[in-house]
Amino acid sequence: MQQQIAVGKSAIIVLILALFLSACIKPLPMTTPPPTTVQPDIPSLYETLAPYFPIGAAIEPWQLDSDAHTVLLTRHFNSITAENVMKSDPIHPSEGEFHWTPADRLADFARENNLFVHGHALVWHQQAAEWMFRDTGNQPLTATPENRALVLQRLAAHIRAVVGRYKDVVNVWDVVNEVIDENQPDCLRRSRWYELTGKEYIETAFRVAHEVAPDAALLINDYSTTNPRKRQCIYDLVQGLQADGVPVDGVGMQMHTNIQSPTPQVVETTIRKFAELGQVHITEFDMSIYTNNTDKYESVPETVLARQGERYQALFDVFKRNSDLIASVTFWGMADDHTWLKTWPITRINLPLPFDAQLQPKDAFWGIVDSSKLPGQEE
Ligand code: GLA
Repeated sequence: MQQQIAVGKSAIIVLILALFLSACIKPLPMTTPPPTTVQPDIPSLYETLAPYFPIGAAIEPWQLDSDAHTVLLTRHFNSITAENVMKSDPIHPSEGEFHWTPADRLADFARENNLFVHGHALVWHQQAAEWMFRDTGNQPLTATPENRALVLQRLAAHIRAVVGRYKDVVNVWDVVNEVIDENQPDCLRRSRWYELTGKEYIETAFRVAHEVAPDAALLINDYSTTNPRKRQCIYDLVQGLQADGVPVDGVGMQMHTNIQSPTPQVVETTIRKFAELGQVHITEFDMSIYTNNTDKYESVPETVLARQGERYQALFDVFKRNSDLIASVTFWGMADDHTWLKTWPITRINLPLPFDAQLQPKDAFWGIVDSSKLPGQEE
């Protein structure tokens, strides 16, 4: 037995030594090379699309520390969305305590550079200011009439503060984000908001936002909006709210798409249906190169990027064709160096945006701007 332990110990020592040595001789892990210069001589995305709609990108404040990203942003986009810093937890982490600095930075940048700002998002069940659902002893609130009033009052105070601060620069707000669950009989997600207030939090959010910023467009924003059942849920909810006099101006279609779906046809049907209710905004466009949650490329084949270019072309053709119904199109990011799809639903290479990790135009870019430059199309 003792002998076995001794052998086990020396095996561990050998293993540690081997790991140490291999760490010493291995090359350093590959890091993303620094961005190269943004190409000055390609068409600007937003100028190309100016006849149709403004073009936005979701950004983080730290990206404004990079000259290359700032140049890419101002050359190709005329609208920004705060990727995270205007969500309720980051901006209002405890009652009356606001972290304005990161969001102010984006707002100031937009003011200085004449960009639209798409406000995102006043109410969401994720990245939510949890304190709103807790009592003074930090215990979860239970669903009572008093707590309903308390939560609605907290929500109203939150919206007054955030919408009020940016009302000169934010022209459209995602007022409620992802409140639909098409598998519930009433189509409403069973979030803490719902548990404590029923549907009232939605009505309050829109009414207060409108009171503070009467000129801003107020949206309900969601994913998988092309799913017929979910689409109908959103339609019925908005129609019902509007019939009750709640100031909902339209629908935000997130459009986290992939290389295969949704089809251009179903996207077009959805845009047209939502347009019956008011404005339609494409709010979070990107295109995963995978069609499931498990595949991983070691390196991405050129053919996949070419296919992505064709899909970009087909979907932007739909957007352009329906530009009288579409108020804006925003990408969830600018370039493939920074995208949530690198870690969701698993960690893997993903290249969903029009510019690559070195900020160079991809086939996806040419699919939007000039499809004659797509592979197989060159003269
Ligand atoms: C949702 C949210 C966004 C963002 C994305 C992915 O679509 O609306 O704010 O968090 O998920 O990260």
